[in-house]
Amino acid sequence: MLEGKTFYIHTFGCQMNVNDSEHVASLLLKEGARPARSPEKSDLILINTCAVREKSVEKLFSYLGRLKEQKERRGSVIVCLGCVAQLYREKLLKKFPYLDLVVGPPQYQALPLLLNNFLTEKRVLTEWKKSWVELPIVPETRESPVSAYVTIMEGCNNFCTFCVVPFTRGREKYRPLSAIIEEIKMLADRGYLEVQLLGQNVNSYRDPETGAGLPELLGKIAEIDGIEWIRFLTSHPKNFTLEMAQAMASIRKVCHQLHLPLQSGSNRILEKMNRNYTKEDYLEKIDLLKSLMPDISLSTDIIVGFPTETEEDFEQTMEAVEQIHFTNIFSFRYSPRPLTAASRMRDDVPEEVKIDRLIRLQTKQKEIQLALNQKLIGQKLRVLCLGRSKKGNLYSGRNEGFQVVNFTSPVDVSNSFVEVKITGCGPYSLHGELAG
Ligand code: SAH
Ligand code: SF4
Ligand code: F3S
Repeated sequence: MLEGKTFYIHTFGCQMNVNDSEHVASLLLKEGARPARSPEKSDLILINTCAVREKSVEKLFSYLGRLKEQKERRGSVIVCLGCVAQLYREKLLKKFPYLDLVVGPPQYQALPLLLNNFLTEKRVLTEWKKSWVELPIVPETRESPVSAYVTIMEGCNNFCTFCVVPFTRGREKYRPLSAIIEEIKMLADRGYLEVQLLGQNVNSYRDPETGAGLPELLGKIAEIDGIEWIRFLTSHPKNFTLEMAQAMASIRKVCHQLHLPLQSGSNRILEKMNRNYTKEDYLEKIDLLKSLMPDISLSTDIIVGFPTETEEDFEQTMEAVEQIHFTNIFSFRYSPRPLTAASRMRDDVPEEVKIDRLIRLQTKQKEIQLALNQKLIGQKLRVLCLGRSKKGNLYSGRNEGFQVVNFTSPVDVSNSFVEVKITGCGPYSLHGELAG
């Protein structure tokens, strides 16, 4: 049924979902299907889903609810992919009977076959795979022509007590280093300038063939001509080693930028989260990183209102944030997730207290970011321009620290490296002009 049919993919969730959607689009293109601009105009609608927080699932359910009418009007085939597909399986079909297929991340390679026979095949496919499954990717499906996501591992063995990801992505599976290098060489040949290596826990990467770890992988990628910036996420603080910090500092192409989720500044809460580090361990790693790379840009994830979190625990998170000066924070109110250990604890922090803590944290962080950004005014920064900014006639890109830079330019500089003179800022972005 795929030849000549149109498809539309709606992606919720993290960068790995974005990259998975690029792979799924490649699989469909190879079968002769064509991308459509909107769901209304497509024969096949695929929704790639995220289960990480209660809110992500609520958003999905409201999206799926709206597709009922489309199903009735146009008879489109509707497919649910991603982490919610893996987690809820048959439950999704019960709740949304007009879904045709539910396919979890371990089974994407079966999608073309399933879609070609979907009326006779079973409608839920979520069996785990034990090792890495290589999926094709064609250039047309990548979101950017210069910056690419490259998945190097999938799954997680850590079982942080709040996190559903080990149940949606399974245990850690590592992609062979040779396949990663081959993909990045192909990207470089096509003019890609930046790669972002993806995995739930990239610091535990081990090449299944040679046992080489992330520092060696970074070294090999850096040898590829054309690739100028290398980033990776996400790093778990307990697996982030001295060797990694040294690799970041010594391999010129590796950006001085790191996302290192702290989650909480209270050792009591960190222990209940099963994070396997203390606030002191974390701060020690930050000091090391700052001593090796004084210009490093750090970002983090914080959860407020984890079960039993007291005002004093939260104050310790605030103190850590005030001390470290992150360039960006992703902060969330705790919500219990199915199958997790924390979902068996009482979710005892009242919602209004969670909201109050989140606002206090975000207000503090906003001040810190504004002050950090103001220090950059007057400087010239190297920026990878990714195109026009969402609003206005500006160009938009990222600096090495992964901060958003919006700037004016008399010529179209999309998809290239430029020098930008910073002339102003807000807490969430820098503004400037193309430096002559
Ligand atoms: N693999 C990554 C990302 C996990 S999900 C890592 O280990 O950091 C991204 C973020 O969502 C987490 O870092 C955490 O801050 C947040 N998160 C995960 N589960 C959550 C939950 N149940 N409630 C609120 N936030 C959660
Ligand atoms: Fe979830 Fe923890 Fe694994 Fe990250 S390290 S994916 S937060 S279990
Ligand atoms: Fe969400 Fe799955 Fe990514 S739960 S954060 S889409 S790994």
